[in-house]
Amino acid sequence: MKIVLAEKTSPAAVKIFQTEKDWTVVTADQIKNGLAAEIADADALIVRSAVQVDEALLANAKKLRVVGRAGVGVDNIDTPAATKRNIIVMNTPGANAVAVAEHTILLMLAMARSLVRADVTTREGKWEKKSLMGSELRGKTLGIVGLGRIGVEVAKRAATFGMTVLANDPAAAPELEHSMSVRLVSREQVFTTSDYITLHVALTPKTQNMIDAASIATMKKGVRIINCARGELIVEQDLAAALQSGQVGGAALDVYCEEPPKGSPLLGCPNLIATPHIAGSTTEAQEAVGTQIAHQVMDYLRKGIIVNAVNAK
Ligand code: MLT
Repeated sequence: MKIVLAEKTSPAAVKIFQTEKDWTVVTADQIKNGLAAEIADADALIVRSAVQVDEALLANAKKLRVVGRAGVGVDNIDTPAATKRNIIVMNTPGANAVAVAEHTILLMLAMARSLVRADVTTREGKWEKKSLMGSELRGKTLGIVGLGRIGVEVAKRAATFGMTVLANDPAAAPELEHSMSVRLVSREQVFTTSDYITLHVALTPKTQNMIDAASIATMKKGVRIINCARGELIVEQDLAAALQSGQVGGAALDVYCEEPPKGSPLLGCPNLIATPHIAGSTTEAQEAVGTQIAHQVMDYLRKGIIVNAVNAK
């Protein structure tokens, strides 16, 4: 078998594949003549979020049986094209949920306490003690769009800060309201009643552009928005305009329509905190997604066991 790891993957994951004596394992730094040539005779391809696995790339992969996504979002993989070629696409839901949830809480706190401005001005020799008056999360309402594994981890943490937690997720089990301190509401209610709104849904035609000028107009003035999911959930020009007008008081983004977000109007907004798609980038999470996808792909290639496939029942 030949396994191609197209992006930097945790050493523990590479080791799992290397334990198979007759298997050839090609890591990202060993790919010399391009990915298309490398996967021509590969059985499995492992990616994170940077490599676009599109129709043209898959057309080279005559033997490919599985694409493993070390992470959750599969929007960089043309799943219908893979399905047409009988290639299984699998991901690792949950493995980086705590990392993303912790980053979300970090961004909320950083906005509430103007952390970035406090750091920059203090280094500049200023002492902005008066202008850096913060606010507490306690008593504020957090609206979560998407109560999957990540959303649940965010909800648990926000509740311990004394926040009222609302969530919208048509797929959420009603029991969650009893087992957790969260109230399930419509997406409109999340938008109209929250002090902080955080997005934790996959990018689909139904979720794309959910935050635009029209939905922002329904939100509380000064609302703060966090996005650690996918950039395309937000119309960036509309958010930039709302940050400028003050309708949105602050935004903290880890993801963008284009990454890196070259020339985006958002980057000029002082009330924006920007991080470079690192919510899931902790040592623990990268090891978890890497080893989990390695085990899943091995189980499929050796035993035909399919786990966490997005295109097979
Ligand atoms: C994910 O989809 O798992 C996160 O966005 C992190 C990543 O890009 O790997």
